[in-house]
Amino acid sequence: MNNAVAGFSKLSKNEKINWIADTYFSTPDEALKIIRNYWNSDHKLQQLHDEFIENTITNLYIPLGIAPNFLINGKYKTIPMAIEESSVVAAASKAAKYWATRGGFKATVLNTEKIGQVHFIFNGNAEKLQSFFDQIKPKFFSDTQSITKNMQQRGGGILDIQLKDKRNLLENYFQLHATFETKDSMGANFINSCLEQFATTLKEEAHNSDLLAKNETLQVVMSILSNYVPNCVVRAEVSCPVEDLAEKHITNPQEFAERFVQAVQIAEVEPFRATTHNKGIMNGVDAVILATGNDFRAVEAGIHAYASRNGQYTSLSHAKIEDGVFTFWLEIPLALGTVGGLTSLHPLVKLCLEILQKPSAKELMEIVAVAGLAQNFAALRSLTTNGIQAGHMKMHLNNIINQFEANDEERHLIKSHFKINAISHSAVVEFIDNLRK
Ligand code: MEV
Repeated sequence: MNNAVAGFSKLSKNEKINWIADTYFSTPDEALKIIRNYWNSDHKLQQLHDEFIENTITNLYIPLGIAPNFLINGKYKTIPMAIEESSVVAAASKAAKYWATRGGFKATVLNTEKIGQVHFIFNGNAEKLQSFFDQIKPKFFSDTQSITKNMQQRGGGILDIQLKDKRNLLENYFQLHATFETKDSMGANFINSCLEQFATTLKEEAHNSDLLAKNETLQVVMSILSNYVPNCVVRAEVSCPVEDLAEKHITNPQEFAERFVQAVQIAEVEPFRATTHNKGIMNGVDAVILATGNDFRAVEAGIHAYASRNGQYTSLSHAKIEDGVFTFWLEIPLALGTVGGLTSLHPLVKLCLEILQKPSAKELMEIVAVAGLAQNFAALRSLTTNGIQAGHMKMHLNNIINQFEANDEERHLIKSHFKINAISHSAVVEFIDNLRK
């Protein structure tokens, strides 16, 4: 079957879903029913979602959960999390409650600098290029005045622009490397607009410059922000005397703390473990990023680049026991916004930001880092004590029940049985089979 289609984006929404249903389904009506079931009955709200992207056919829901009782820098926060993985919100809530009685989380933004680059090829004298750059540098600022005016009023703008010689990496390769402060906005549009103007200025000035010879050509390859922001970093930490770590399931706090520190050390030296360890951190980070309408792909790319900054992928978090005090912390780069983009467009994102009491971008960086640390703590605590499967399967039980479309009575019997029996996929399936015999 030839499934290519011409002019798909020009079709109406109904024509699009009909094409999908007819092309890929033996029972097109059922496919159409599923697609339409997820349309919002509020026509305007659906239109808003339709217009976020091209070729929208419906909405894919993921749950929005709430993790309460996060004591951060002395104030309680209730954190909204958008995530499909069963155990994440439960784990966050548990970690929040645990640390609330042990001093809470401390979070600090270390710096907030964003980065963008104009990549270009220049086949001439590098010293003359430097003189040319020094001469025209003020022009980059003056030519972007109309773009930077509002940002400057909010206390942000272009921080600096440098010429970088990258010929050790690639023949004739140079960059304009610019740094920005974008305050409460993530700043992608602002940065990219500035960079494209820098590129125009660079080309025009090079063309007219007496400093560069006519046979020295300068070609701009591209202008784009970098999602690697090693100077836009937040630190989150928990700490307490080792004996205070004790609770119902931690009867030997010294042993617990030592094993916990060992688990972190393994992630520090072993990339296979570091990847999974950091994935646990990202469970918390991404869930808050999504709930607050930020760009999780940008955050993921930047954080993993940061985890490799010394040449080997390593743990984002660290732990120590010093003078009888257990400390666990992480540092991650986060370029976030609480104004602009989806934050003012998506009604649920707006609601989540209100639950967080309308944080500044810096406050959101702190909250996100804390969610990551809490998630990492919860995972390591389980891994170094009872293992994760017990808690995970408890949350996953609902998914299995739903998969088998259990009725209310079956649901009740299954839940009662597995309150006292070990949960595994096969045990639940067997139990359901027996019930239905
Ligand atoms: C599962 O989503 C996350 C964990 O694998 C994280 C970890 O191993 O630290 C439990």
